[in-house]
Amino acid sequence: VTVMQRLTIHVLTLFPDIIDHYAKYGIVRRSVERELVQIHTVNIRDFTEDRHRTVDDTPYGGGAGMIMRADVLARSLESVSKSNDAGKVILLTPQGRTLTQTLANELSISGTFTLICGRYRGIDERFCERYVDDELSIGDYVLSGGEPAAMVVIDAVTRLVPGVMNDFESGLDDSFQNDLLDCPWYTRPVEFEGMTVPDVLMGGDHKKIECWRHEQSILRTKQRRPDMMKKYSTDK
Ligand code: ADE
Repeated sequence: VTVMQRLTIHVLTLFPDIIDHYAKYGIVRRSVERELVQIHTVNIRDFTEDRHRTVDDTPYGGGAGMIMRADVLARSLESVSKSNDAGKVILLTPQGRTLTQTLANELSISGTFTLICGRYRGIDERFCERYVDDELSIGDYVLSGGEPAAMVVIDAVTRLVPGVMNDFESGLDDSFQNDLLDCPWYTRPVEFEGMTVPDVLMGGDHKKIECWRHEQSILRTKQRRPDMMKKYSTDK
């Protein structure tokens, strides 16, 4: 008997339409349709209490940019936690630890988590102290908001939920899933602009093909990601 491991992702954002739209395509859409994943967006602006619906203000001590208010964020998070389990509360920020396949795997089986998309210069530190369990970055560059990062997390995590991918799409050979980059792939036509397909792939010897692909993976990883190769050699 297999137990269905469903996943609920709450997303706190000023632009819920961006996330809702993303969830209408491809594997994310299918996972939602199959009721394996639930994506629930919350508009942070709905939890303002002033006439102008203010979500941010200038920083104490001065400086350029605007800071998101802790009270507004707290109310929007409470809107999730009072009726559901919010799970791990994750702030998307370039100050966070970097998203990895290992982390994506962990989140995919965690049942529930909540993503918070920051905007502007940052968010009030007191909100982080009180409510945030983890801070995640998708890489060493600065986005203007957390929404693209939330889409990256949702995509990377959703495809790993058991039952979302079929056998052909199975993520088991993915780059990073086995600590190596993926091998090169070819399809028809057999000749393209004077280039052919490696003979081994046309030979039908499946053991040989598997061997070649593994070699190519190692070669690529050595050439492109010496940092990953070091780790692979040590682990194996
Ligand atoms: N928000 C702004 N930049 C970001 C990044 N690199 N990762 C996650 N969230 C962000």
